[in-house]
Amino acid sequence: MKILITGGLGFLGQHLARHLLRDVPGCRLTLIDNLSSSVIDHAWLRDKAEIIIDDFAAMPVGRRFDRIYHLASPVGSLGILSMSGYVAKQITDLAVRAGEMAAACGAPLLYVSSSEVYGKGGPQSEGDELAVPVQTGTRMEYSLGKLSAEHLLRNMAARYGFRLTVVRPFNALGEHQSSRIGFVVPTFFEHAMAGKPLPLFHGGNQVRCFCHAEDVVRGMAAVQERGVDGETYNVGHPGNAISIRDLAAKIRALCDSDSILESVDPVERFGPSYLEASAKSPSIEKVHADTGWRPRIDLDSALARVHGYYSNLGAPALEHRPDRVAAT
Ligand SMILES: NC(=O)c1ccc[n+]([C@@H]2O[C@H](COP(=O)([O-])OP(=O)(O)OC[C@H]3O[C@@H](n4cnc5c(N)ncnc54)[C@H](O)[C@@H]3O)[C@@H](O)[C@H]2O)c1
Repeated sequence: MKILITGGLGFLGQHLARHLLRDVPGCRLTLIDNLSSSVIDHAWLRDKAEIIIDDFAAMPVGRRFDRIYHLASPVGSLGILSMSGYVAKQITDLAVRAGEMAAACGAPLLYVSSSEVYGKGGPQSEGDELAVPVQTGTRMEYSLGKLSAEHLLRNMAARYGFRLTVVRPFNALGEHQSSRIGFVVPTFFEHAMAGKPLPLFHGGNQVRCFCHAEDVVRGMAAVQERGVDGETYNVGHPGNAISIRDLAAKIRALCDSDSILESVDPVERFGPSYLEASAKSPSIEKVHADTGWRPRIDLDSALARVHGYYSNLGAPALEHRPDRVAAT
C-alpha cells in the first residue's frame, strides 16, 4: 500500500510513520515536508521511506497513492505568530492541494484539523456549534483556517468523489516534540532540566487534556480505515485533564528540579495577537463508537516516557539544542 504523509517529518508525522511501518504490512511511505517547523532528526527514516524535502503546495498531482494523511500546516502558538496574516491562507492552500491529490488518484484523504476550531471552552464534541468568538488574533486566524480547510475539503470530496475523514486532535505530547514553536510540555522539561524558571501564562490556570502522540496517530489511522466517510472525529484523552500549573509542578518533580514557576504575561512577551483558550476537553464517544479507538496512555505514563527521552538526551545536549525558547 502506497501512503503519503504531508508534514511527515514533523512531530506527529514521524510518530504516524513509525506506527504505519509497524502496523501496515507492505506499506510504502512517501513523506513530504519543507522543514519549516520541523527540527526533529529524521535520519532513522532514510532507508524506510521516500523523503521529499519541498513545499507540499508545489507537489505535482498525478502520483498514485492508496492513502493520504494531510498534516502539513503552520503549527504552535509561537510558530503561527511568526506567520500572522498568512496562517489561514497557508492552511487553506495546503488543504486545496491535498484535495487535488486525492481527487486525481481517488485516494482516501484523512485531514488533520485541530480542536482549535471549537469556539467555546470546556467539553467539546463534534455536534457543537462552531461559533467564532468576538476576538481577533493569530490563534483565531489558525482556527478559522482549519475550519475553512475542513469545509472546502468536504465540498471537494463531494465534487470529485473521494473519501474524506477529518480528525481534530486535542493537545498532543510525546518524545521528540519541539519547544521551538511554543509547545508547553517540551518547554517545561527543557527548563526544568536546565534549572530555569517554568513560565506560566495566565497563572497556569488553563486546563488541557494531553494525549500521547502514539495514541493520537493510532486514532488517525483508525479514522482513516474505519471512520465513516465525510465524518469528523475528536482525538484526545479526556482522562488526562490537568491545569498548566499542576503540569509544571509534576514535570519539576519528575526532573527533581529546583526551577521556580514564574508568572509571565504572554501579551507583553509576544504582543496583542497572542490568544489561548482557558479550558479544552474532548468528547471521544463518536470516535470510539465508529472506530473502536480509545487512548491507552495515562498522563503519568506519558510524562514518564517524555522524561526518559530527555534524560537520554542529557543536559549538555539540551544546552545546545537550537529549539530551546522560554515560552509555553
Ligand atoms: N501537536 C498538537 O498538539 C496538535 C494539536 C492539534 C492539531 N495538530 C495538527 O497536527 C498536524 C501536525 O502537527 P505537529 O504537532 O506534528 O507539528 P509539526 O510542526 O511538528 O509538524 C508539521 C509539519 O508540517 C511541515 N510543514 C509546514 N508547512 C509545510 C508546507 N507548506 N509543505 C510541507 N511541509 C510543511 C513542517 O515542517 C512540520 O514538519 C498539524 O496539522 C497540526 O495543526 C497538532
